[in-house]
Amino acid sequence: MGVLHRISGPVVEAKEMTGAKMYDLVKIGNEGLTGEIIKLVGDTATIQVYEETSGLKPGEPVTTTGEPLSVELGPGLLTSIYDGIQRPLDLLVKKGGDFITRGLTVNSIDRQRKWDFVPVAKNGQKVKQGDILGTVQETEIIMHKIMAPVEGALSDIQAGKFNVEETVCSIDGKPVKMLQRWFVRKSRPVAEKFDPNIPLLTGQRIVDIFFPIAKGGTVCVPGPFGSGKTVTQHQFAKWSDTQIVVYVGCGERGNEMTEVLTEFPHLEDPHTKKPLMMRTVLIANTSNMPVAAREASIYTAATIAEYYRDMGYDVALMADSTSRWAEAMREIGGRLEEMPGEEGYPAYLGRRLAEFYERAGRVQCLGSDTTRTGSVTIIGAVSPPGGDINEPVSQNTLRVTKVFLALDASLAQRRHFPAFNWLRSYSLYTDSLESYYVNNISSDWVDLRKEAMALLQKESELQEIVQLVGPDALPEKEQAVLLSTKMIREDLLQQSAYHEVDTYSSMKKQYLLIKNIMKFHHRAQSAVDLGIQLKRILELPIRERIARAKEIPEDRIKEIEFIGSEIDRAFDSLGKK
Ligand SMILES: Nc1ncnc2c1ncn2[C@@H]1O[C@H](COP(=O)(O)OP(=O)(O)OP(=O)(O)O)[C@@H](O)[C@H]1O
Ligand SMILES: [Mg+2]
Repeated sequence: MGVLHRISGPVVEAKEMTGAKMYDLVKIGNEGLTGEIIKLVGDTATIQVYEETSGLKPGEPVTTTGEPLSVELGPGLLTSIYDGIQRPLDLLVKKGGDFITRGLTVNSIDRQRKWDFVPVAKNGQKVKQGDILGTVQETEIIMHKIMAPVEGALSDIQAGKFNVEETVCSIDGKPVKMLQRWFVRKSRPVAEKFDPNIPLLTGQRIVDIFFPIAKGGTVCVPGPFGSGKTVTQHQFAKWSDTQIVVYVGCGERGNEMTEVLTEFPHLEDPHTKKPLMMRTVLIANTSNMPVAAREASIYTAATIAEYYRDMGYDVALMADSTSRWAEAMREIGGRLEEMPGEEGYPAYLGRRLAEFYERAGRVQCLGSDTTRTGSVTIIGAVSPPGGDINEPVSQNTLRVTKVFLALDASLAQRRHFPAFNWLRSYSLYTDSLESYYVNNISSDWVDLRKEAMALLQKESELQEIVQLVGPDALPEKEQAVLLSTKMIREDLLQQSAYHEVDTYSSMKKQYLLIKNIMKFHHRAQSAVDLGIQLKRILELPIRERIARAKEIPEDRIKEIEFIGSEIDRAFDSLGKK
């Protein structure tokens, strides 16, 4: 047993920790607070403590549990709201009163609740690690799959009602229960990682068209205060074609946390009309929680996400915001008497960020079924101070993530939502996803996208000229380009999260919308070539029809298709006059 030697906020030092290992979970002081060894020199351990340390005194005992921090996995995870080390928030608060008490041991997963276990594997079967033993209807919309923790011969499997600690079968004679554990800082094994060639469709047009996300990909959403980070994360959670959402709220200011705790549980899953929580695990770091728990929360979330991935699900793992997580790291790092890196962040900030995003991927799941695939897509919001991304958290994140969705304060001020800057944002998946879009949406998809983006780039050049000499100095053909790009910006890219219809667009709808605008563009350019005055093009009533097309519901998508032929008719008639 070790002895507490020094206390420095969330970090303490214990001596005589013989036999303890790096990352061991330890119990600290007379109250038995939970902590984790983050540095070990000889038998002196530096420990980050997941609970408030005030009142601890040197000389109090410290014991190691001999095991690293782990997550409980099993049915009952969905709909839960946890703190950073997977303690159910409601239990913490109930047991300890309004404030979170210390030294409490609470189970992450309900031990009493009985689940209907339906066997999939058969007695006598040789199972491999990862094979599905049986299923449990975890919520109305998600089927939980109980996976073999080890390989061996299966016996004693039978249908029935079990709680997570009861034996549902045996493998090589050893009892297996539904409750399993995994170490948070270690990624769960997979059979194979695939190339990112399937898109994660979000229904958000600027993303799906210009900056597509791959299933298993990594996304960085930096944005200044109030620019739309949280709305973006919520839109992705609700609308992306993933079955499971793991959402980490890392708030610093009180209001951000209440946001996660009050808003998220009320979100509706648009696909099933049930609460989104039925396919969500929420991890909430409230501002009164110790920073060490916030530091751990990201890994807890990643492990839970990987667990559902292993069942064969597509999982969206979101963190809002990772800056708050990095600040926790900075606060802990600052107590370690190590040379700080840039802006006081620990030198290992970049490595930690990389390790986190490396847990993303689309994979072949472990087990005998080689067709089972799953994915974890990581979408991290970043809130750089003052909105300037030239700071360590943004820069280290950009180094490892493949999609950069740059939220822009000036767009948000002009109420252009979502406020992604289309000239600064990028996706490194566009090429690897090309064949998917061409095969599943349309052969001209890539051309439409490239042409529209080229126009937007041209627009910014033209705008510089306009600022100098005014719009009338531009030739009509270029003025017509500005008309087209205005349509791209307003009738395609702008998309209200709060509009009943506009909040989501199917790929088919996105395709028709961009196709119509580009058709208008081409017809307008040829019309100007033919000497038709721009004024007459501007007066065409079809422009209004194009502008409203995004509000046409999916079940009337034929009307959007029809606008295409109306554009032709409108320009044909111009030519005749
Ligand atoms: N896609 C959108 N559609 C409509 N409105 C939006 C959209 N995105 C953002 N907004 C508007 O911008 C406001 C601020 O968005 P949000 O709360 O997501 O910003 P944030 O970047 O998370 O801010 P903070 O830095 O405070 O966390 C929203 O309340 C909403 O009015
Ligand atoms: Mg926010």
